[in-house]
Amino acid sequence: MAALLTLDKLTKTFHLYEAEQTIEACQNISFEVQPGEFVGITGKSGSGKSTILKCIYRTNLASSGSIVYDSAAFGPVEITTLEERKMLHIRRYEIAYISQFLSVLPRQSAKQIVVDSAKDAYEEKSEQEEAAIEMLKHFEIAEHLWNVFPNTFSGGEKLRLNIAAAMVKHPRFLLLDEPTASLDNASKVKVRELIEKLKSEGTTMLGIFHDLEFMEGLCDKEFNMQKGSFV
Ligand SMILES: Nc1ncnc2c1ncn2[C@@H]1O[C@H](COP(=O)(O)OP(=O)(O)O)[C@@H](O)[C@H]1O
Ligand SMILES: [Mg+2]
Repeated sequence: MAALLTLDKLTKTFHLYEAEQTIEACQNISFEVQPGEFVGITGKSGSGKSTILKCIYRTNLASSGSIVYDSAAFGPVEITTLEERKMLHIRRYEIAYISQFLSVLPRQSAKQIVVDSAKDAYEEKSEQEEAAIEMLKHFEIAEHLWNVFPNTFSGGEKLRLNIAAAMVKHPRFLLLDEPTASLDNASKVKVRELIEKLKSEGTTMLGIFHDLEFMEGLCDKEFNMQKGSFV
């Protein structure tokens, strides 16, 4: 089976011109993610975990190395040099990036956020509405919260809304950047259940976790990072 994602010697160096300094955020990172797999990366804060995810999603440009993603729309593509138009398509329809932070417009209801996200996947208004409601229910966002602005939501509710908005597009590849970092234990358990569910539905995932305990028995493969390298 062809890998969904193949990293070969990915290296990212930040140049801080003001400080006349360079930061080697990650060096020579190589690994594969197979379709349907859940791959985990652990490591201390500052070890370079998010940098890897951002290079894959291309919110960071790699300094060197290769990132090949086997896309549904275009076949295997080299992310580091892919034309912008195709990258936008992949971000919109194939790869989702979920972090612990909810980044949404302030004056939009929880439901509207998910409906807007569904516009990329469904043409008909009624389908968008239906898909959004299904996701809100699936991720257990209480119905009395649907018409509320989510800035008052708890950490767990925000995260579930975040995931619902990402999942309504049925992405084939999920990047999870410490989704549980700000959550209490009960909410962490919920996220774990959710990840298990996504996995059983065949979603391929690459997740970063600070917390080793949370990863127990969940990952097919696990890498530990220290100072920009896998150890
Ligand atoms: N945009 C940036 N500019 C400069 N340095 C950065 C930038 N992003 C990350 N870094 C640095 O790269 C290193 C790795 O960061 P990061 O990948 O966010 O680590 P982690 O996610 O493991 O906490 C850190 O030293 C961080 O300060
Ligand atoms: Mg990080």
